Amino acid sequence: MGASPRAARLTWCKSRADSTVWMGEETAVEPYFLQTLRKRSGFFCFDHNSGVKQLDLDERFMWMALDLARQGRGKTSPNPMVGAVLVKGGEVVGSGYHQAAGGPHAEVFALRKAGENAAGAVLYVNLEPCSHHGRTAPCTDALIRAGVKKVVAAMEDPNPLVCGKGFQKLEAAGVEVKKGILEHKARQLNEAFIKYITTGLPFVTVKAAISMDGKIATGTGQSRWITGDKARQFVHRLRDHSDAVLVGIETVLADDPLLTTRLENGGGKDPVRVVADSKARLPLDARVVNPGSRARTILATTEEAPREKCAALRERGVEIMVLPSRAGRVDPAALLRKLGEREITAVLVEGGGTLNYSLLEAGLIDKLFLFIAPVIFGGRDSPTPFDGEGIASPGEAWDVEALELKQFDRDLLLIGYPKKRRVEVGS
Ligand SMILES: NC(=O)c1ccc[n+]([C@@H]2O[C@H](COP(=O)([O-])OP(=O)(O)OC[C@H]3O[C@@H](n4cnc5c(N)ncnc54)[C@H](OP(=O)(O)O)[C@@H]3O)[C@@H](O)[C@H]2O)c1
Repeated sequence: MGASPRAARLTWCKSRADSTVWMGEETAVEPYFLQTLRKRSGFFCFDHNSGVKQLDLDERFMWMALDLARQGRGKTSPNPMVGAVLVKGGEVVGSGYHQAAGGPHAEVFALRKAGENAAGAVLYVNLEPCSHHGRTAPCTDALIRAGVKKVVAAMEDPNPLVCGKGFQKLEAAGVEVKKGILEHKARQLNEAFIKYITTGLPFVTVKAAISMDGKIATGTGQSRWITGDKARQFVHRLRDHSDAVLVGIETVLADDPLLTTRLENGGGKDPVRVVADSKARLPLDARVVNPGSRARTILATTEEAPREKCAALRERGVEIMVLPSRAGRVDPAALLRKLGEREITAVLVEGGGTLNYSLLEAGLIDKLFLFIAPVIFGGRDSPTPFDGEGIASPGEAWDVEALELKQFDRDLLLIGYPKKRRVEVGS
């Protein structure tokens, strides 16, 4: 167990005398809960919405499957993150997680580890096993062949190719099926996959860093840096977990960002860099136009872009994506559709306020990561995370739901899901 000044981080503790606690990723428990838990034995989890909860046996192994699934974060796109645990006589006999698209599914890793012990075992898996031939053979067939007697799944696979067919196939072969265990957790884990597979559109997350007075840059347009090292490191993790990172051209002109993933301990993958730039103003020597980098760059532009400039950028390795325009700018919905067609399932938007607002206004933002630094910039004209026209009355606001709060040294991070309020006719 490690401890930070405000909260203690709990991990799996094996001693029978102690309480045994499974923690989700990046969760921390207030010292008060630690005191309470020390007096009890069993399996517990901590959730920002429901606090500490004792887990029953099914939930305990499902939690383990979810923890395993998370190890694939950022590596499985366009596939979901899946973890699988095979249990026999109360003991784990095999486990695994989906590590990369095209590679074996979680169930296959668990079956391989279990070997003959898979016969008569119970499989815990956070997503319905697949029943179709995709890049790999159906998992349902492998489970039936191995003699697995029961499958406990958190949720049905929303993929129209599966969508209950995996469960049907298992049941038809005499395998007992139980579903819905920790379903909300499983849905949250694979929220990007669920949106992508059901709509063809990527899951859009906006990340912005603001001062305490709500500014994303000073009056002269400078934004480096608002937050501290730890918060910025977390952004690199967000990039690693995303397929693409999207910025408006003014951000490139102001900051000349690299937009690659630089994790503290190395590793990680660079997302595809996308610049919304309807007239191809992107300078040829911008750092995102970097032939030496492994990261690909897409210029999302319109017919208004000069052909010679596009040709020069193309020569430097930039892909030119010509899209319809909306109000004289790149149509954001068309851009997301095109990215979805490229199997880009998760887009991290890194501003600025003009691009963010046009996405918000079009109802295209799924999730928000708002860092708040304890500094004040002032300045009537300093940009905010959502510029644009704005609304006339607070009743028309976007609500940000399912709020979560984290802290990185002195910086706060608010995470939530923006939803436009319904304005009743006649109200
Ligand atoms: N603190 C932070 O988290 C953070 C993050 C990013 C940026 N920033 C700061 O924000 C400032 C830049 O923000 P900004 O609001 O001026 O610009 P921006 O959002 O970065 O870029 C806006 C420009 O993008 C182009 N664009 C193309 N399609 C668009 C669309 N559908 N919707 C909106 N824009 C589209 C437009 O130029 P065309 O009409 O020429 O296409 C538009 O003027 C800089 O000072 C930067 O340092 C801060």
